[in-house]
Amino acid sequence: MTTDASPDRKRDVSIRRAERVDLLAVVRIEDESFSQPWPYDAFDRFLGDPGFLVAEHGGEIAGYVVADVSHRFGRRLGHVKDIAVHPDRRGAGVGSTLLSRVTAVLAAQGADSIRLEVRRSNDDAKRLYRQFGFEPLRRVSGYYDDGEDAIVMVRKLE
Ligand SMILES: CC(C)(COP(=O)(O)OP(=O)(O)OC[C@H]1O[C@@H](n2cnc3c(N)ncnc32)[C@H](O)[C@@H]1OP(=O)(O)O)[C@@H](O)C(=O)NCCC(=O)NCCS
Repeated sequence: MTTDASPDRKRDVSIRRAERVDLLAVVRIEDESFSQPWPYDAFDRFLGDPGFLVAEHGGEIAGYVVADVSHRFGRRLGHVKDIAVHPDRRGAGVGSTLLSRVTAVLAAQGADSIRLEVRRSNDDAKRLYRQFGFEPLRRVSGYYDDGEDAIVMVRKLE
């Protein structure tokens, strides 16, 4: 009999709003995931926001997402600002689960679209976003401090 661990692992992941007690674990994952990580204070500012969610697995933080909605020109624009999964937990559906939940949060806040920036070389993340209906909109030259371009991706919500 073949067994696929992914569905079980996915079922064991719970998504909830981030709390102060989660921040050290969040920052640790951030540091392991990005060459220009957000500092502690950047996450602290989003505490209590409905778009700052963590994924918990077996009592440990497996990943997180930070997103918000801004009002511009009479429209409500959702923005995924940061998402990462612990290196040992990647490829098991945690990122998809976080993205799915935060999309629902942004939609409930009235967002008519969701935008995000991704490094041009970040194929894993781009694949994940495409699966969620994000389309590349434009390239921003030298967006990151090391000179790499960003791809802006957008998903329209119904
Ligand atoms: C991008 C990231 C959040 C995805 O989280 P994850 O939990 O690994 O993603 P999932 O397991 O839900 O995978 C969802 C999809 O993403 C793509 N993907 C994720 N990891 C992948 C990998 N290692 N290789 C290829 N595709 C991958 C696949 O399309 C996958 O769908 P599939 O399982 O149906 O093939 C995670 O890789 C990460 O933390 N990366 C470092 C930080 C980062 O780059 N964040 C995004 C900044 S814009």
